[in-house]
Amino acid sequence: MHIDIVSVLPELLESPFAHSIMKRAREKGILSVEVHHLRKWAVNAYGQVDDYQYGGGAGMVMMCEPLVNAIEELSAKRSYDEIIYLTPDGETFNQKTANYLSLKENLLLICGHYKGIDERVREHFVTREISIGDYVLSGGELPAAILVDAVGRILPGVLNDETSALFDSFQDNLLAPPVYTRPAEYRGWKVPDVLLSGDPKKIADWRHEMSVKRTEERRPDIAD
Ligand code: ADE
Repeated sequence: MHIDIVSVLPELLESPFAHSIMKRAREKGILSVEVHHLRKWAVNAYGQVDDYQYGGGAGMVMMCEPLVNAIEELSAKRSYDEIIYLTPDGETFNQKTANYLSLKENLLLICGHYKGIDERVREHFVTREISIGDYVLSGGELPAAILVDAVGRILPGVLNDETSALFDSFQDNLLAPPVYTRPAEYRGWKVPDVLLSGDPKKIADWRHEMSVKRTEERRPDIAD
């Protein structure tokens, strides 16, 4: 999968893909991520990419021209399955959307700033608008990093243990069960006996039971 990201703050996106699972995905050639500085398509030598909003009001708006030129130049090189604008008024991102996007070949992510981007870019170019939650961040870079991480880690071959993503919280509309590691007893707090039993069927049943219980207690809204 290839992901292009257009941003006015590309520095914010240097670290998130340079470590751990994302690093491995890129090194294995399963995921490539390219961050493009919007100022490359600025309307003048001052690097202008935003302007005052029509109708008045505080806050700048990202202009059509740089964004459209960026989208058209990048689209000439790749055919995007989705052009995604990260915005607090988009559909709320979840595991289902991450799963869906992980099946795509090429994605283009647009990071907004200030008051957002000119509505005409949304109307004519953006195919999907995604929010990472009901709160407002100062830009779309961290949301873009979250989306790439959630999508990248479930690409086949990225995780060492291929099955492990299947047991993540939210796959199958269930939260993950509790996990424990050594020692088997710490300050008198014991690991549940069943996990030390060596009986795979019993362990699987217990984990499922815990997942269901946890989901009913904490997230009844997602329980089947
Ligand atoms: N940009 C600012 N806040 C955001 C959010 N919650 N989700 C996506 N993009 C954003």
